[in-house]
Amino acid sequence: MKEKTMRLAERLRGKDKIAVLFVCLGNICRSPAAEGVMRAIVDEAGQSSRWTIDSAGTGRYHIGQLPDHRMRIHARRRGLELTHRCRQVCEADFDDFDLIIPMDADNEANLRSLAPTPEALEKIVPMAEFVDMSMRYDYIPDPYYEGAEGFELVLDLLQNGCHRLFEQLSPRI
Ligand code: 4NP
Repeated sequence: MKEKTMRLAERLRGKDKIAVLFVCLGNICRSPAAEGVMRAIVDEAGQSSRWTIDSAGTGRYHIGQLPDHRMRIHARRRGLELTHRCRQVCEADFDDFDLIIPMDADNEANLRSLAPTPEALEKIVPMAEFVDMSMRYDYIPDPYYEGAEGFELVLDLLQNGCHRLFEQLSPRI
């Protein structure tokens, strides 16, 4: 995690409620999977009343759809039911969420041009910043044109990163 992200996490740790938005291109593979992974972690820890978790896409190709069936199958094998309906990210999301988490550099660039204020820009932190360095990925690769390994890799990276995100934003005892 970058120094700047550590400072942001420290600030959010003190808050009663936290809202996070995961963002990818289509909002049918990576970001709804991140939403499902994060929700499971938060539920398991009995923290669901503290957290608002959502996802959105920079594109608008799949609005209203359930996640891609391949992602739903791979997620289900890990005990996760993905029921999100695709929506496009919008300017108001920068008011409604504390953290906006893009999956790759393209998503990040699109979010940066949408951010209405300097404070909004500060809320953007790439998912890969939370993923352990040992996994050797500095972005979450788009699985859409990949085989099963692509979906498994995304879930591995997200499970690793979301655990770290949860720890970083949980109050220190
Ligand atoms: P996602 O994957 O950004 O992880 O949801 C994609 C889904 C759909 C498309 C591209 C990426 N698409 O081009 O339709």
